[in-house]
Amino acid sequence: MNNTQPLPEGGSSSQTTDDYFKQPFKIGILGGGQLGQMLLRPAISWNLDLHILDPDPNAPCSKSCSNFTVGNFSDYNTVLNFGRQVNLVTIEIEGVNTEALAQLEQEGVKVYPQPQIIELIKDKRKQKQFYLDNNIATSDFVVVNSLAEIAENEHFLPAFNKIATGGFDGRGVQKINTASEINLGFDAPGVLEKAVELEKELSVIVARNVNGECICYDPVELVYHEQNMVDYLIAPADIPAMIAADAQEIAKEIANKLGIVGLLAVELFLEKSGRLLVNEVAPRPHNSGHHSIDACITSQFEQHWRAILGFPLGSPALKQEAAMVNLVGAEGFNGPVMYAGATELLEEKNVFLHLYGKTSTRPYRKMGHFTILDSDRDRLIAKVQRLKNKISVISNTTD
Ligand SMILES: Nc1ncnc2c1ncn2[C@@H]1O[C@H](COP(=O)(O)OP(=O)(O)O)[C@@H](O)[C@H]1O
Ligand SMILES: [Mg+2]
Repeated sequence: MNNTQPLPEGGSSSQTTDDYFKQPFKIGILGGGQLGQMLLRPAISWNLDLHILDPDPNAPCSKSCSNFTVGNFSDYNTVLNFGRQVNLVTIEIEGVNTEALAQLEQEGVKVYPQPQIIELIKDKRKQKQFYLDNNIATSDFVVVNSLAEIAENEHFLPAFNKIATGGFDGRGVQKINTASEINLGFDAPGVLEKAVELEKELSVIVARNVNGECICYDPVELVYHEQNMVDYLIAPADIPAMIAADAQEIAKEIANKLGIVGLLAVELFLEKSGRLLVNEVAPRPHNSGHHSIDACITSQFEQHWRAILGFPLGSPALKQEAAMVNLVGAEGFNGPVMYAGATELLEEKNVFLHLYGKTSTRPYRKMGHFTILDSDRDRLIAKVQRLKNKISVISNTTD
């Protein structure tokens, strides 16, 4: 990006919605991964002037965004300099430098979601404390800083040990069943959470705009791999209407209590007892909303722009029941990526393939997803099982 270019007017907090379409308005995204890539599509439809910062020169957005800057979004000066050249900064990843974002906010740059919310959410200890302070049901936990402290809380087992920051897709989460497994845990700051007896795992995406308007997508049902990462989801979740309504109420309550502007993905546990517990939240578009691109009136990505630019929110309604299957790197392959079976998948009706453009694969790396639309739930689930085996993410280089 050219540092000498003057910033277009409109960065002040008196910005009104219409201005986005009436004058040059630059938007910066911290992170250029697959979420950034999917945010680009509706932004192109609206001619938004996007600028993306990511440390990886081969990040998915590097090829699809002409204003792509290679730089570390967790570095204070890099974020400050990047942000000073745009009118609004948003994120597609939580691990960003929130001190720089707070400074930018002070200088009149809009930052959505707000820096203090990102700061709270990116630390699982602070997140859990927020639920306690606000009477939001969550699994019991203790803060631990080392394996020795896990051992002191043996009465909590079976439990999940989670590192405080930087974990994702199940990395940074370890189940500890008995005292003899304590050494599997992390010798690092984090939480130890009582294991919940799960009936289902759910997610609700809620959007809240600048004016406090708030809407929820239908709860979806998440099915996990053994590695604690999402294998596929079904939308809507097969749960009683009362539980679906409660899940949406909880999601709205958290969004309103945080005062977030943007998207909030709320992961919930439905216990065997029927009780809903909040697992964790993410202040951005989320894997559990990817079906919305093909299955909902307004995708979560368009909704994100609507929320942070202060537009009216779009309908989150499902056009049809859907499943979304994550395409992850197959075990045993590391190196330049190849997609075996993609043609066969594309032969299927009402199946939509999304590839993220990552150049190399490794086991369980998220490389793409596909969405299946089908009005019959049993057929949908059967299709998930059949199609999952059709396509695989491999490489000609093996481990
Ligand atoms: N307290 C718990 N009880 C039962 N399962 C859990 C618990 N905590 C985590 N899990 C399992 O591990 C998965 C990943 O945990 P999570 O905290 O969501 O980490 P990540 O940040 O990697 O998504 C959850 O979706 C769930 O399947
Ligand atoms: Mg999670």
